[in-house]
Amino acid sequence: MATDDEVDRDPLFRYDEPIFADEDLLRISHLPGPNRIVGRDEHMQKVAEALNPAVFGQEPTHLFIFGKTGTGKSLISRSVSERVKEEARREDVRVQSAFIDCGEQTTEASVIKTIGRELNDQSETGLTVPQRGLGTGDYYDRLWTIIDACTDVAIVILDEIDMLEDDEVLRKLSRAGENRRITDSTVGIIGISNKIDFPDELNERVKSSFAHDELVFPPYDAQQLVDILEHRADAFRDGVLSDDAIPLTAALAAQEHGDARKAIDILRNAGRIATKEDAGEVTEDHVYAAKEKTEADRFGELIEGAPTQAKAILLALTVLTENKHQDQFPTKQIYEQYQSIARKLDMDSLSERRVQEILREQDFLNVIDSETKGRGRGRGVHTKHRLLEDPEIVKKVLHRDSRIADLGV
Ligand SMILES: Nc1ncnc2c1ncn2[C@@H]1O[C@H](COP(=O)(O)OP(=O)(O)O)[C@@H](O)[C@H]1O
Ligand SMILES: [Mg+2]
Repeated sequence: MATDDEVDRDPLFRYDEPIFADEDLLRISHLPGPNRIVGRDEHMQKVAEALNPAVFGQEPTHLFIFGKTGTGKSLISRSVSERVKEEARREDVRVQSAFIDCGEQTTEASVIKTIGRELNDQSETGLTVPQRGLGTGDYYDRLWTIIDACTDVAIVILDEIDMLEDDEVLRKLSRAGENRRITDSTVGIIGISNKIDFPDELNERVKSSFAHDELVFPPYDAQQLVDILEHRADAFRDGVLSDDAIPLTAALAAQEHGDARKAIDILRNAGRIATKEDAGEVTEDHVYAAKEKTEADRFGELIEGAPTQAKAILLALTVLTENKHQDQFPTKQIYEQYQSIARKLDMDSLSERRVQEILREQDFLNVIDSETKGRGRGRGVHTKHRLLEDPEIVKKVLHRDSRIADLGV
């Protein structure tokens, strides 16, 4: 029924939302309230134990959290930090937190700068933290001043910490108090990594330098994903979710490993597809279509902007996966396939060693899984690689690069 208002509206746009009541609840960066967080009580408790001293202005225990993507690491860290702040406020203790995405801030200087900007209250410090123009040492000096002036306890969350190019920042932050860089405050670090084997790497890199607790977040099972989704179901209008929508979404998201990010993305995409189709209900078909879209998007993001060389290597692994009755391939075999693709692309061929390095980088991005048997890590001859995505989807995404699409494979 058109009201007078609607009559004047530009027909190019849509003004009704038949499916979503509040789509924002399904944004990945949305921080849900405690009553919407399910299935992580134990982990929340452990994070709370580490941060607990902060409530009284004391130094928290540093904490490292490991687990695959979508297991709630970032969420629980942020949520518990917020609750610590709130609780500390009652004790007249000032806890502040800075959340750093090390995938974006990969250098020491940019991490320090970002923490400084997040914690700074210019009216108190009289300082600014300029985007550029200061040396790393000067950024550190400002950060220490800011921490002393603006906080009693600073909680620094370093998300995707394995992407950090340099561990110096970790060392400096963890020793700031000891070295009397800060005198009135204290710093607690939460380091988060999606890499399950990162503790070993971290051991070599920094473990000896400071004490910390470690916590592993396991994947969710399908039932936990159902619970998580049901606690967000009010993102949809009443009655538009078919009975199967949530269980099916959860089952599909649990196939590889129980990934809440994927589950939420699929459900949101299902809603969007239903909206676009002017459907009155979110059906199973919408969920299946949403799964495809979600995987292609996720994958597209991962390899978007990767150099054509990296895409050619990935194509080599994809072609092998499609043509052979196996799913794991040694570096050498991928390299030979890659060389033939590089020739067809009229592209210089990289060395086998460099290809091995790039494969390891892709492993890093969770696009492929590389496994090394015997001998030390990263030794090419003994490493086998497996594509984590459906080859169909990988090809679809690789074909967005026109040079690769022109190959016709
Ligand atoms: N236990 C949970 N309860 C409710 N929502 C969750 C839970 N775990 C994860 N989520 C949601 O799933 C998405 C991915 O979680 P996130 O914390 O980013 O995972 P990770 O950091 O481990 O990759 C986020 O949108 C988050 O809100
Ligand atoms: Mg995360």
